[in-house]
Amino acid sequence: MRPHAPALLAAVSILAVPVAARAGSQPLRAKHGMVVSQQFAASQVGVEVLWEGGNAVDAAVATAFALAVVHPSAGNVGGGGFLLLRPAKGEPIAYDFRETAPARATPTMFLSEGRYDKERHHEGLLSAGVPGTVAGLHLAWKEHGTLPWKRLVAPAIGLAEEGFPVTEELARDLRRVLPELLKHPASRAAFTREGKPYEAGDLLVQKDLASTLKRIADKGPAGFYEGETARLIVKEMERGGGLVTQADLAAYRPKVRIPVRGQYRGHDVISMPPPSSGGTALIQMLNILEQDDLGAMGFRSAASVHLITEAMRRAFADRARHLGDPDHNPDMPMTRLLSKDYARELRRTIDPQRASVSSPSSFEWPAESEETTHLSVVDDQRNAVALTYTLEAGYGSKIVVPGAGFLLNNEMGDFNAGPGLTDEKGLIGTEPNLAAPGKRMLSSMAPTILAKDGALRLVTGSPGGRTIINTVLHTILNVVDHGMNVQEAVDAPRFHHQWLPDVIRYERHGLSPDTLALLAERGHRLEPIGIQGVVAAIAFDREKGVLEGAADRRWADSAAAGR
Ligand code: GLY
Repeated sequence: MRPHAPALLAAVSILAVPVAARAGSQPLRAKHGMVVSQQFAASQVGVEVLWEGGNAVDAAVATAFALAVVHPSAGNVGGGGFLLLRPAKGEPIAYDFRETAPARATPTMFLSEGRYDKERHHEGLLSAGVPGTVAGLHLAWKEHGTLPWKRLVAPAIGLAEEGFPVTEELARDLRRVLPELLKHPASRAAFTREGKPYEAGDLLVQKDLASTLKRIADKGPAGFYEGETARLIVKEMERGGGLVTQADLAAYRPKVRIPVRGQYRGHDVISMPPPSSGGTALIQMLNILEQDDLGAMGFRSAASVHLITEAMRRAFADRARHLGDPDHNPDMPMTRLLSKDYARELRRTIDPQRASVSSPSSFEWPAESEETTHLSVVDDQRNAVALTYTLEAGYGSKIVVPGAGFLLNNEMGDFNAGPGLTDEKGLIGTEPNLAAPGKRMLSSMAPTILAKDGALRLVTGSPGGRTIINTVLHTILNVVDHGMNVQEAVDAPRFHHQWLPDVIRYERHGLSPDTLALLAERGHRLEPIGIQGVVAAIAFDREKGVLEGAADRRWADSAAAGR
């Protein structure tokens, strides 16, 4: 086997690294480094980079490329996302590689004959934004990486070229999207066995993707945004009526941003700024909740679920009202949204005995997929990376670029539907997040890092569309307020409220019948769901000098790998 091509290691990866584990009631503990992702082979790729002397950014980049092969529903080169770095020394920094709208995008592009057309918004080539992942990972590596770029892409090439065993989880997932994959010949070729679904244990080989990854390994972003890969993307766009041109690809630039910061019970909270709403809404909720003693109220008591729900309701209303791409919305009230004073004002509007009413009552959120994937990495020096990236829906647009082997995102669906809808449907057409040339669509991704007394404390994040923000909130509250170890914090049942629709969605069996009754008495509508999110988290116990990695058993392939 080639040195950096761990193709068939996937099945035995749990044994092949010194310390690695599936989710359990205890976290995986290791001293020198930790990688947690949604696929065990990708976590292994990352920890091997740490073994070789790479830092957290190196490991995150290698893990992300590996996920583009072994976790194709959200791991990607054809999508975008956010990387948050808290270096052991120096200031935290956020890399924004969110997709951009092509130059020909307009605020009304999702309307046909004046009416909203969901298909144009969420499906097909029109829904694909200009991908950001390759440029974003490269920029983070260029500024902080230590190992050669080629070394970091090499494991992904090996996994794509030699194949990896399909897991039960992946087989089930591919079966779910089979009808949509079959619509596109290149998708059918890449992710089915001549039209039949892959079974667990089959080898999934992706030769075209391997060729694309080799171009990226050799040339960096030029191997994606120029030359053969760009030509193949544009050819597909021209064939199927997509908007992305060679000029759009050449113009794509990732952005370095200053993270949003908050304080929560003595913890420094560092998270993703706009164009993600994640960090802002998270800090707003924490600021509201800090005014009460959640620990004393008790985990999942009716009183605490009520209070947390009311904080969620208010933060999500502000998200819809105010947030979008900062480069197109210079006047977003960020200082106010993140301030303790504003949180105090909001807290005063919460009646502990009565649910507020969300309005306008006619408002419906545009669909936002619950896919996406998150990975967390900490190295020996305690550099920490939280990286969340996505294709938007699972497998994005479901369209594989012929000859290039990777899926295109359908991230344009994260823009608001259109200005014409504002009057009747409340805030759905709010200005800050309407499509426009070069604009980044609003996200909910919330890669987040907590520090305490100057030392790293927690790295976390999750997929889940709008539920991401609340999933990350729960993980933090579970650790800080309820004193759980990070694995318990990840395992604990979650719930979600997003202002509208006005309903608490809770993981089945996650709230007791008594609690449900007390919440209903306060006026809450409640709905059980399957699962919420797939957290990948790492805690640092400063006193013991030990890292604790928590993979989420809600997705069976998730794994922590440590050294
Ligand atoms: N597409 C999911 C997100 O950006 O949050």
